[in-house]
Amino acid sequence: MPNTAKQNMDFRRANTDRVIGLATTAKVINEPWVQHFIKAIALTDDPGLEEDLALALKPRAIEQLFRDIPFNNPTQAQLSEFLQMQHPMLFGIVPDLGLQFVQPIDWFNQHLLILGGTGTGKTNFLYAIILMAIRYGRKIIAIERNKTDLRHLRRMVPDLLVFTSRTIPYPTFQVPEGVDPRLFLTDFVEIFCKSHGLLDLSEGLAQTTLVNLFRERGIFEGSQNWITFCDWKREIQNLRFNRWDRRSGAIDSLVLRIDGYLQTMPELCAIQHGPSIGELCEHSFVWELANESERQTRFLASLFLKNLYRFRIARNERVSILRNLIIFDECKAAFPAGPANLTGYAPLANILSTCREVGMGFALSDQTADLNDSVFVQTRTKICMRLGSGKDIQAVERTFGLDRDQARFIPRLDIGDAIVRVPKVDEPFLIKIPRVRLQ
Ligand SMILES: Nc1ncnc2c1ncn2[C@@H]1O[C@H](COP(=O)(O)OP(=O)(O)OP(=O)(O)O)[C@@H](O)[C@H]1O
Ligand SMILES: [Mg+2]
Repeated sequence: MPNTAKQNMDFRRANTDRVIGLATTAKVINEPWVQHFIKAIALTDDPGLEEDLALALKPRAIEQLFRDIPFNNPTQAQLSEFLQMQHPMLFGIVPDLGLQFVQPIDWFNQHLLILGGTGTGKTNFLYAIILMAIRYGRKIIAIERNKTDLRHLRRMVPDLLVFTSRTIPYPTFQVPEGVDPRLFLTDFVEIFCKSHGLLDLSEGLAQTTLVNLFRERGIFEGSQNWITFCDWKREIQNLRFNRWDRRSGAIDSLVLRIDGYLQTMPELCAIQHGPSIGELCEHSFVWELANESERQTRFLASLFLKNLYRFRIARNERVSILRNLIIFDECKAAFPAGPANLTGYAPLANILSTCREVGMGFALSDQTADLNDSVFVQTRTKICMRLGSGKDIQAVERTFGLDRDQARFIPRLDIGDAIVRVPKVDEPFLIKIPRVRLQ
């Protein structure tokens, strides 16, 4: 091929590439005059024209791309108001402004919700808030289900304790100091039976047998001769009913559930005495629940946290600061959706509204929005990372007060990008969460 013909072809190919590049940029702008200009460039082979158009288009296209993001930023004044508050925790950076979005740690008393599909950066964000809270001297109770991510924080926090249900020093029947044993039993029976979907008949038997045992041991009179799951099982099995009596079936249901605990966590079931719940919660710890069923997780975690709440109330330890930051990854186990009389029994739902007075604040995270209503109603700050399912997006649209365009943006969020809903800022806005490196 003669040299000039080859040069001509190369030039045409390069020109075609440039025109395609321009057309792509122009698509964002979508105005007729741009299309005409591109046609002219394609016909005239004039590289100068192409450069002129590229120069004119690029800034407009970038501007348009930003316009396509349906969120407004908070004002600088709002952001700096947060910065002036005590003990700020960095949540992320507001992209266009480049300003830090912080929240005072004590606002965690009114709880935080983090939603995001798998791999969108929830755990990374939890690492960040845990590390900051520990630096401020607050204690962490992190409950992790089916995962062992949070234990890696020990690299940064060597005295962080990591328990499983086999190792946690938590005697399940130990009444917290100062709490009326009758109140403890009412909580215990309700949480146990409802978490396991047991009916009223079983609940009645559970109550009677436990009251008998507590009475025999003198626990109502102040004795600390606590019982164990084995004692309870024996007491239930000692009950004798006629074969046709419905209560025989209720006995079987109760024993079956107790056996579940004896098999999955024999060590926990055998502990009779342990440190007081107040002492335990003076340390930061992770409690990994992996072998337990969802119902067992709900029972153990809910009873533990309810006991801590009762303990603090009994000692009149009312505070306005955050003492324990309670991290609940996969919080659906404790806050399932649905009507309370069926699957949706959420024993912690009602303490969410009152536990702030004793310094307990929750950070609840889950991969879906299919959660108990209390989680949406009772969390002051809400964060949403990328979600894929239409049902979840609809739930976020409703509960975060997003408009339709903002909701449509949820599946487009990058890893570490989040929509924030917080009182004091009228509209939802976007932040970029920094990546945490645990070395
Ligand atoms: N803000 C961020 N910036 C950059 N990379 C991030 C950010 N957050 C998380 N990542 C990276 O993305 C990956 C997934 O993050 P992470 O484990 O936090 O997701 P997740 O939402 O907790 O997922 P899962 O629901 O499966 O637990 C990790 O490799 C992490 O390093
Ligand atoms: Mg995670």
